[in-house]
Amino acid sequence: MSKPKTIGVLTSGGDAPGMNAAIRAVARAGITKGMRVMGIRRGYNGLINGDMFEMNLRSVSDIIHRGGTMLYTARCAEFKTQEGLNKALQVCRDVGIEGLVVIGGDGSFRGARDLSLLGLPCVAMPGTIDNDIGASDYTIGFDTALNTVMEMVDRLRDTSQSHDRCSVVEVMGRRAGYLALHAGIAVGATAIIVNEVPYDFERDIVQVMLDTAKTGKKHFIIMVSEGVGGVAKLAEDIQQRTGIESKATILGHVQRGGSPTIRDRYTASLMGYHCVELLDQGIGNRVVVLKKDQVLDLDIYEALQIKKDFPVDIFKIAHEISI
Ligand code: ADP
Ligand code: F6P
Repeated sequence: MSKPKTIGVLTSGGDAPGMNAAIRAVARAGITKGMRVMGIRRGYNGLINGDMFEMNLRSVSDIIHRGGTMLYTARCAEFKTQEGLNKALQVCRDVGIEGLVVIGGDGSFRGARDLSLLGLPCVAMPGTIDNDIGASDYTIGFDTALNTVMEMVDRLRDTSQSHDRCSVVEVMGRRAGYLALHAGIAVGATAIIVNEVPYDFERDIVQVMLDTAKTGKKHFIIMVSEGVGGVAKLAEDIQQRTGIESKATILGHVQRGGSPTIRDRYTASLMGYHCVELLDQGIGNRVVVLKKDQVLDLDIYEALQIKKDFPVDIFKIAHEISI
């Protein structure tokens, strides 16, 4: 592959704070290296419909501190069909897009892999609050979301402490419990419930609450991952079994918004730059990741095979220090 004259950039799947910093880095690095950069709207939808615009250095001014994504994002079922893929490729040919930066989660990576297989060089970087990409230690948005959860649960703690209550809190992560684990540790949750680790209601929640109540504890936080769900019923069951008044709170999409933290802006900027450097050197079909605080890249097909091990040792520590 030779150096592309025109590249595209899109955000896909759930938005994540820091995506704007990544778009900014891609646009600025691409233009500075002499490429035409097309901003594609609403993920793969924009590629299929030709909904895109040529970016200039000022197109990405004043966005580094904003949550969401200036390019909008979407999920696109049509793109998963051969017809959708072909349409997207035809649009790229028409516009002259010879390389693509995809910012999203593993679903978006699969889309990038499919385009790469059909001859469009793609470089993908992880943008999702879930931190669930096997190939990367970190995904853009995770830190901001964690800080949001921490702040919200600190507020819940004030009220549950005042009323001697138990707060059962659901945090995002349909398929991964990293937000629940990290936030659970940061807010001092009595129990953290995730899909990755089996739990026993009587042993891990009721008994722990009753034991700690005997030592004088009067208010509790139970952190539950979205993938486990059922927090309303769980709060009812806790109240019935322990006699401690329990309320459920689903934090929801508030976790996806807000101004990105320094970690997200910084990492997104370096990753975005790295994506463009690869395309500029004629290298495609890669995923840009963070490993031991280093921005690296690896083969897109290999990256998609890598599974992330849930840190059970840290999960155990969280429970040991929660009593
Ligand atoms: P995320 O990228 O956050 O994991 P999704 O799983 O919803 O979010 O994927 C985002 C988009 O990526 C989908 O709407 C679809 O257009 C594309 N995509 C997802 N999975 C695949 C797949 N297996 N093959 C091709 N494209 C996919
Ligand atoms: O993948 C990020 C994520 O926020 C998940 O944690 C959550 O389950 C999902 O997206 C929700 O997506 P939607 O925007 O479709 O509600």
